[in-house]
Parts: sequence; structure tokens; C-alpha cells
Amino acid sequence: MRILILGGDGYLGWPTAMHLTGQGHEVAVVDNYLRRRLCREENVEPLFEVPNLHERVDLWESVSGYKVPVFVGDLSEWDFIAEVFKSFTPEGIVHYAEQPAAPYSMLNRRAATLTLLNNLTVTANVIFAGREFCPDAHIVKIGTMGEYGTPNIDIEEGWLEVEHKGRRQNFLYPRQAGSLYHTTKIMDTDLLWFYVRMWGIRVTDLMQGPVYGLFTDENADMEQLLPFFNYDELFGTVLNRFVVQAVAGYPLTVYGKGEQTRGYLNIKDTLNCVYLSLESPAKPGELRIFNQFTEIFTVNQLAEHVQRVGTGLGMNVEIKPVKNPRKEAEEHYYNPKHTGLLELGLQPHYLTDEVLAEMMEAVLRHKDLIQHGHIYRQVKWA
Ligand SMILES: NC(=O)c1ccc[n+]([C@@H]2O[C@H](COP(=O)([O-])OP(=O)(O)OC[C@H]3O[C@@H](n4cnc5c(N)ncnc54)[C@H](O)[C@@H]3O)[C@@H](O)[C@H]2O)c1
Repeated sequence: MRILILGGDGYLGWPTAMHLTGQGHEVAVVDNYLRRRLCREENVEPLFEVPNLHERVDLWESVSGYKVPVFVGDLSEWDFIAEVFKSFTPEGIVHYAEQPAAPYSMLNRRAATLTLLNNLTVTANVIFAGREFCPDAHIVKIGTMGEYGTPNIDIEEGWLEVEHKGRRQNFLYPRQAGSLYHTTKIMDTDLLWFYVRMWGIRVTDLMQGPVYGLFTDENADMEQLLPFFNYDELFGTVLNRFVVQAVAGYPLTVYGKGEQTRGYLNIKDTLNCVYLSLESPAKPGELRIFNQFTEIFTVNQLAEHVQRVGTGLGMNVEIKPVKNPRKEAEEHYYNPKHTGLLELGLQPHYLTDEVLAEMMEAVLRHKDLIQHGHIYRQVKWA
């Protein structure tokens, strides 16, 4: 299959590109380095430098033999996306290309506007370019579990059957996000659902939980092929951050009561979820939604796990609850369903002591690069 990865330079995009070529697909990547630029502007660059997209593609070709064409440009510009879709004519589109950080979207008005305009314009352009240049292509969009928020009832996989005055209909599950970034993801889903109904496009929307990890089957032997790894409060995800904090001897920053509960997954499972979705695509006129996570943890459980494994490695890991800079429920009911991807064949990689120790050892090799000032800035959401 010809697969176009939008956001192919990103934390998930680059590992996905290597993984899908390894599975025999023809892959091209597109990116405008927005993520790198925002990290530089906010002075929160990833732990270690990674080569640019052209260099990564050359490295990957030298070890695997697979060629991956690179398109550098802004997908929110119609002329650029039209050119890319016209020349590559994908059969599968993996849409990662968004401003992906909730804290960044809450930083100030400029960051909020950038998130809103970038995310919605790219999604709309993907729909329009797909319609014009590859109408049968399957769009695999990465949404987020954060679209659902933390309702006091079970979370279904995308849809909820509602009975009202004796009649029934399936609706998109009610969504109520806790950040502007998550709100743009809800709007993306609504846009996609609208055009599924209008034009019969084929979409899989993957409601993904926070991802952790660095290693995949493709990069384990070559450090230069690792994805970039943020540990700051704006772009880092919680477990990746705790690992760096433990290695740095910086107390683990648990927000508030620490009973915030979410579904997490290993980066290896993200790649497989996307692969499985592409291999059995949504039908024309279908918006298929899967909840993409493998295990549920509270923030306290993650912190305690990192502390236990870190202590075993001889580190002195302290846990220090801090005043919650976010506006969120610190204790709540949480019971989301997540059977769809398992039924497609996902075999989860769970968060074992070994997985955590491997991450910690990788971060230890870069301990000198950790900048304490990057870790916690208290971006206030309220
Ligand atoms: N990492 C996670 O834990 C996680 C969890 C849930 C959902 N997601 C979603 O998965 C996707 C990928 O996340 P990630 O962590 O790899 O983020 P990322 O920022 O590393 O990757 C996104 C990439 O898209 C690129 N991009 C953004 N706007 C673009 C534009 N207009 N034109 C071209 N390229 C553009 C960025 O430069 C970046 O390289 C995002 O949509 C994110 O919202 C991520």
C-alpha cells in the first residue's frame, strides 16, 4: 500500500515511517518542523538532538534498504498539500500533523490560536485533498482519549446509543475536553464525521492515550534513529517526564492528588495500532473509532512505579506533589472500553519493570544534557 505519513518527523511519525516500510509498505513522509520550531521558541528542546528528516531517511535507507521520499512544507497551505497528494496519490493517509500538546495550547493567546488554526486547517485540507486526488484513500487520524474527558459513566468506543422517548439512535459519544488542544481534536472528529456523511470518505479515528517509550523494533540498534524525547512540561508526556526527573534527581512532579486516571500505551503499540487499522480499513462512508491504549494508571501509580524501578537502579527518587497548574478532576470515575484494536490483533507491550528500566538506562546515557530549568514551568490552565 502507498502510505503518506503527515507529521512524519514527529515523536510518533518517524517511528511509524520506519515500521510501515519494514512491513512492506511504500511510505512517504511530510512535515514542516513545526514541533521543532515551537520547542526552540519556548526553550524546551528534546533531551538529545535528532537528525533532520532528510538525514534520518538516508540513515534508514543505509540500514534497511528502504527509500522514503520526504516532503517538507506546511500542510495547512493548500498549494503544498495539493502538490504532495497529487504526486504521491496515497492509498492510506496517517494524519499525525497537529500541534499535539495540551499545555502548549494553554500557554497564551498566540499558542492557542496557532493550535486552533493549524490543527483544523490541516484536517480540513487532508479531507479536501483526499477528495480531489485520492477519493478512495483511507484516512487514519490520531485523535485522543482526552476528547471524552472524564465522564461519570463508562466511555464507549466512539459511539453511544441513546434512547429518548422510546426511540433510539447512535451518536458520537459525548465529548468534553479539558484543554484547547483536546477541543481541536473534538472539532477534527466532527469535521471528519461531517464529510463521512457528505462524501462517503473512509476514516479511522484513533482515540489515543498518552504514549511512553523510545524503542521500537526498528531503532533499537541505532541511536540516531530514535524519536525525539521531550521531558518538559509543555511537550513531554507524563511517564517520559517522570523517567527523566528520576534520572536527574528531580522530585517527580505529581499534580495535586495524583488520582487523575488515564489509559497509556507503549510507542510500539501505537505503531501496531496504526498498522492494524491500515491493514483492515474503514469502509467508504464509515467513521470507525477505536480507543487506543492498553493499560490504565493513575499518576500516583506511575510515580510509584518509576520510584521503585529507579531505586532498584540505585537512584534516589523522591515524589513531590505540587499544586495542580491544570484545571482537571484529581479524583474521578474512569472506565473506558478498548476492545476494537485487540480484536484486530493488537498484542500489547505492557509497562513492566524491564520496560521502565530500559527507558531509564537510555536516559542515563544522556544525563548530562538534562536541563533542570526545562522540567517544570507551571503553565496555569485556569
Ligand atoms: N504522543 C502522545 O502521547 C499522543 C497521545 C495522543 C494523541 N497524540 C496525537 O498523535 C499525533 C502525533 O503526536 P506526536 O507526539 O508524534 O507529536 P509531534 O509534534 O511529535 O508530531 C506531529 C508532527 O506534525 C508536524 N506538523 C504539525 N503541523 C504541521 C503542518 N501544518 N504541516 C506539516 N507538518 C506539521 C510537526 O512538525 C510534528 O513533527 C498528534 O496529532 C497528537 O495530537 C499523541
